[in-house]
This record gives sequence, C-alpha cells and structure tokens, in this order.
Amino acid sequence: MFDSGIGGLTVVAEIMRAMGGEDIVYLGDSARVPYGIKSPQTIQRFAVQDLKFLLSHRPKMVVVACNTASAAAIEILESSSPVVVVDVIRPGARAAVEAVSGPIGVLGTEATVASGAYQRAIEAASPGREVLAVACPLLVPIVEEGRDGDDPIVLHVLCDYLRELQRARPGAVILGCTHYPLLAGAIGKLLGPRVTLINSGSAAAREVADVLKKKGLANLRPQGGVLRCFTTDNPQRFARLAERFGGGRKPDGVDYVATDELEAHVPQK
Ligand code: DGL
Repeated sequence: MFDSGIGGLTVVAEIMRAMGGEDIVYLGDSARVPYGIKSPQTIQRFAVQDLKFLLSHRPKMVVVACNTASAAAIEILESSSPVVVVDVIRPGARAAVEAVSGPIGVLGTEATVASGAYQRAIEAASPGREVLAVACPLLVPIVEEGRDGDDPIVLHVLCDYLRELQRARPGAVILGCTHYPLLAGAIGKLLGPRVTLINSGSAAAREVADVLKKKGLANLRPQGGVLRCFTTDNPQRFARLAERFGGGRKPDGVDYVATDELEAHVPQK
C-alpha cells in the first residue's frame, strides 16, 4: 500500500479490520507530501515510483491508499503493475451510489476534485447522478497538526467548506481524502443525520477482501498480520503519528527510504 504520507494508514486500519491476517508493506512518501496541490504529471511520476518500490517487495496486490494518487494515476498504475491494483476512488464512488439515490457530495484535495475522478466514477456507476465536489485544502495540514473535530479552528474551517453542501443537502458525502475520517464526527454533526458519510478507505477495504477471496489469494487467519512501514522522511515522526492515523495500530517497524532510491526504481526521461 502507498500514500503520499501518513494519511493512508486510515486505509490500512480499515484493511486490517477486514483482513487482519494480511501482511502489509506500506510506503508513505512523507518527504513529498502533500500530493493534493501538485500537478497531475508530478503526482503520476511520484505514484509510479511508489508503485515500483512496492513491487520490489513482491506483493500479491497493490492498494493505492491515497485519493489524490488514485485520481491522477490509476490508469498508469494499472498499466505498470503485474499485480492487481485497488484504488480508493472507484470503491468509494460505488459505495455512495449504493447507499443513496439522490445527489452525492465529495470532499477532497484540490487535485482530486480538479481531476474529476470521483465525478467520472459516480457517473459510471449511476449515470446522470448529481455530484457536488468541494476542495478542502486546509484540512490535511490541520489534521496532521493533531487538531481534532472539537477544535474551534477546525470547526471554523469546516463550516466554510461545508456551506455549499449544507445548502445542497446531498444524500451522501464521500470523505475523499485519507485524512478526513479523523474529522468524520465533526463533519457528520455539521451535515446532519440525514447525510450518510462514505469512508472511501472502508469501501476500498471491502474491495480488497472481495478481490483477494475471489482470486484465492486471501490469507484467512483472522489476525497476526505484520505492518511494515517505509517513509521517505523522518521515521521517528512517522512512528509517533502512526498510531493516531492507524486507529490505534502501531506499525511493527518504520524504516527510512530516500526519494533518490524511489527515483532509481524508475528510469528518468
Ligand atoms: N493522501 C492524500 C489524499 O488522500 C491527502 C494528502 C495529500 O495531499 O497528499 O488525497
């Protein structure tokens, strides 16, 4: 599994809940986070490097635990991988379409919203469905700073981002960024009980379980999976933040890998 940084551990937590016996190698590209404000070309370049690094660990599947990388790079990742690649966007879109019949809201990074990937995935699953996507660029740094949904600054920022959705009253809102599940309580309160929140990470976890079972690749022991992490920046900081993002699950090890090494996996043009 890979993400632009620490956030993808929210997706790891969902997968470990669904498939506790699976061993996971996770790469967090913390030196180059955030991806959410970068161009599609840069995100694609980084994502392919991340993928190639993971492939050197010979996985049976790769999970793109990052909405921004899924949005910008899923096609190129699929065509560059000998093993199945699961993203978070298509499962998240399908889960929203199945949950409600009305309009769907999407919250994501600038790059995710601008890519139109959720809009396209929802259209593919339910043609003609109304979609309202809102970019929330301040939420990633706020969550990484350790602030939670009770914090007045967080509430202030959320009120601003959610205003349009409060007016539009969609049936479901997709938490289309790895960091947003940590603010689900506050987002849910502000949107009200009639809005179903869709966690794209848990939708992806269901997809991972389904695909592994269908292919006969699932490790069916109920628990005992090892979580080995690599980060392109400070491993101590990564380890310190990991428990909060990973729903209380500490990594079994955190090692440093230089971005130079990731670049070495993919010849530069
Ligand atoms: N992991 C990213 C996502 O899910 C958020 C952080 C970033 O912008 O890189 O979109």
